[in-house]
Amino acid sequence: MKKKITLIGAGQIGGTLAHLIAIKGLANVVLFDVAEGIAKGKALDIAQSSPIEGFNVNLRGTNNYEDTKNSDVIIITAGVPRKPGMSRDDLLGINLKIIKEVALGIKKTSPDAFVICITNPLDVIVMALQKYSGLPKNKVVGMAGILDSSRLIYFLSEKLNIEASKIKSFVLGGHGDTMVAMLNHTKVDGEPIKNLVKSGKILEEDLNKLVDRTKKGGAEIVKYLEKGSAFYAPASAGVEMAESFIKDLKKELPCAAYLNGEYGVKDIYAGVPVIIGKNGVEKVVEIKLSSDEKDQFNKSIKAVQDLFEAAKKIDNNLK
Ligand code: APR
Repeated sequence: MKKKITLIGAGQIGGTLAHLIAIKGLANVVLFDVAEGIAKGKALDIAQSSPIEGFNVNLRGTNNYEDTKNSDVIIITAGVPRKPGMSRDDLLGINLKIIKEVALGIKKTSPDAFVICITNPLDVIVMALQKYSGLPKNKVVGMAGILDSSRLIYFLSEKLNIEASKIKSFVLGGHGDTMVAMLNHTKVDGEPIKNLVKSGKILEEDLNKLVDRTKKGGAEIVKYLEKGSAFYAPASAGVEMAESFIKDLKKELPCAAYLNGEYGVKDIYAGVPVIIGKNGVEKVVEIKLSSDEKDQFNKSIKAVQDLFEAAKKIDNNLK
C-alpha cells in the first residue's frame, strides 16, 4: 500500500514538496493549509500533471485535520517566511503560535508519524513542536543541515568547476549565522579540501568566503525574491529525509535532532549527522571535531539555547 505524507502548510515549500513527492511517486499526498483554497488548488494542479509525468499517487488539499489521519510522514512548513532584512529569529513569536496549533492537530490524528519540521527559526521551532505534541523525540526532526550542506557543496562545485556529486561536506550546529561548516570533513574527489588549499587549487580566503556565503545563503535568496524565502532546495532536502524514512535507506544526513548528551550537549535540538531509517532518527552519529570546530559548535548551541529561552518567555508552557 502507498504511504501517506501530509504537508502542513501548502505555501511555496509545501507546494514544491508535493510536486517532488508526486514526481518521485514516493507516497500519496495530503496538502493541508489554513488557506483551504491554496491546498486544494495546488493538489489539483499537480494531479493534473500526472498523465504527462506518469506518476500514480493521490493528491488532495484540505483544511481539516481528519483528512491527515494516520499519516506515515508529516512535513511542516506552516508559518511565515522571512522578508528582506529579517533574520530567522525574527519569526519566533508568530511561528511559535502556529506550531503549537499544528502540534495539537497532528498529535490527535497521526501520533505515530515521522515528523519533519521546516518552519523557522528551525531548531527552536522543532524543539517546541516536540514538546507541544509529546511525540517521541526520535520521530520529530528538523530539516536544515542537508540544505546548508547542499548550499556549501554547490558553491564549492561552482568555484572548483567540479560536479557536486564528487564533493562531500556537511554543515552542523544551529540553522543560523552560527552554523559550522565541517571543513576537516570536506573532500573533493576523495581529497581533503585542506590539501587543495595547500596546493593552491583554492585560496583559503576564497574558501572562507564560500563558508560565509553558505551561512548567509538563505538571506541571499530572500533578498532576490523580496516576497519570500527559498523553497526549491529546502523542499528537496525535506524529501530526502522523508524518503530515507519511508524506504528505510538508513542514510546519514545532517538534521536538527534531539541531543541527549551527544556532542556534550543535553536537552536541545541542533544540527548533527543522524541515521534516518524506518524507526525515525535511529542514531546520532558522533564525528570527531577539531578544537576549533568544537568551539564553533558550542557557540552555535548557545545561540539555539538562548533563543529557546526567549521562546519560553513567549509561552510559559514551554518548559
Ligand atoms: N496551519 C497550517 N498552515 C498554516 C498555518 C497553520 N496554523 N499558518 C500559516 N499556514 C500556511 C500559510 O497559509 C501558507 O500557505 O503556511 C504556509 C506557508 O507558506 P509560505 O508563506 O509560502 O512560506 P514558505 O516559503 O513555504 O516557508 C514556510 O518554512 O523555511 C521556512 O522560514 C520559512 O518559516 C517559513 C516556512
